[in-house]
Amino acid sequence: MLKDELPNIKTELPGPKAKAVIARRAAAVPEAIKCGYPVVINRGEGAMVEDVDGNLFLDWIGGVGVLNIGYSHPELIKAVQDQAGRYFHAMQNIITHEGFVALAEKLNAIVPVKEKKRKTMFVNSGAEALENAVKIARGSSGRPNIIVFSGAFHGRTMLTGAMTAKKAYYHGLGPLPDGIYRAEFPYLYRAPKGFTEQEAVDYYLTRLNGVFDEASPPEDIAALVIEPVQGEGGFVPVPKEWIKAARAICDKHGILIVADEVQTGFGRSGRMFVSDYWTDWGCPPDIITMAKSIAGGIPLGAVTAGASVVDKVKPGTIGGTFGGNALSCASALKVIEIMERDKLPERAQKISEKVFAEVKSWQKEISAIGDVRGIGCMLGFELIKSADKTPWADLVGATVKEATARGLLIENAGSYGNVIRFLCPLVVTDAQLERGLAILKESLKVSIEKLR
Ligand SMILES: Cc1ncc(COP(=O)(O)O)c(C=O)c1O
Repeated sequence: MLKDELPNIKTELPGPKAKAVIARRAAAVPEAIKCGYPVVINRGEGAMVEDVDGNLFLDWIGGVGVLNIGYSHPELIKAVQDQAGRYFHAMQNIITHEGFVALAEKLNAIVPVKEKKRKTMFVNSGAEALENAVKIARGSSGRPNIIVFSGAFHGRTMLTGAMTAKKAYYHGLGPLPDGIYRAEFPYLYRAPKGFTEQEAVDYYLTRLNGVFDEASPPEDIAALVIEPVQGEGGFVPVPKEWIKAARAICDKHGILIVADEVQTGFGRSGRMFVSDYWTDWGCPPDIITMAKSIAGGIPLGAVTAGASVVDKVKPGTIGGTFGGNALSCASALKVIEIMERDKLPERAQKISEKVFAEVKSWQKEISAIGDVRGIGCMLGFELIKSADKTPWADLVGATVKEATARGLLIENAGSYGNVIRFLCPLVVTDAQLERGLAILKESLKVSIEKLR
């Protein structure tokens, strides 16, 4: 079966059939929707993709974090088919369907926001989940402003674009919404030189408190919105001591914490959510946003918040036509059932231990590998030109190309574009893991030779 195969490239890339589709794509789809990979999918199973020319790729991008459960899980297919046979859609403001209620109940039980009485609303994407989380925080607190972070990525709508750090994306698209203030993300590897970890944490807390003096008084701040491990920003985890202190600062000022778990959620981190770790540390968030892997590839986003927070929001101000779509909810319920039953978060932890140890061991012979970091399978490593940590983005680009040519799909990340991120489906086999790591190491070495 395809899910048990290993990468195998049989044609030049793209192959002839893929080439034809890619040419049609270039003519039919805006260039602004970029794609640098020569892959046109025929079918996918587990962590494997077969392209239209019969080439087999091992996919360690997984739809950028959408496919934690892998491609074409048979039980998911069945759940969606069964639902499709009954109805596709029941508009949430008109007709109630049981699957949407059951999914809200399930998420209220497992999504670790601070308040135990929780409520969940559904949307169609990560960006929409963030938009609604901000509306909920503003609507319930009556405060206008939010704090976001350097390196943040929250989506491509106008609001989430304004919350996202890389303003190059938005050049020429403004004006962007107001009331968004940015603090420095606690990025320990790139903290000011010579700082100990504790000094770096203190420095970043000072930068957070600085927002209150420099940008907005705390009583005007509705929420602090943060990715527990930055995704696009380079797989940088929020340090434990920082979030504990940030929680205390927010509690002092009545500021809500929104954890953006769009990329980190659903088993990737070794727990269902990184916020489960935060809860163990005594600093759970007030609101959690989810999307990507929640429904295994069918579009769905969700926001879970304490009932006392979300029920202050005025009727009719949140929601949307497709929110809680029946096919998406059927799929999400099955994704969660499978993840819990098959212990995919534990599997993520096992995979992570293997990958982390392996990449760490390469550091002895490949000096370009800088920081190796992450939580569970939300892993990444920085490539640097020299001991002064100068980012080496070209090396990431070259490595991605070499790996693709050998049948391994990996992706870059990071504010400097110099991080290789690891987002492989959690159903990857041990043999695929071994082969992928071997390809990655070889691709790195070949790329260094070419670029030196
Ligand atoms: C942390 C985070 N938040 C929000 C988003 C936006 O999600 P979507 O692309 O579904 O709108 C992303 C997408 O990459 C993300 O990684």
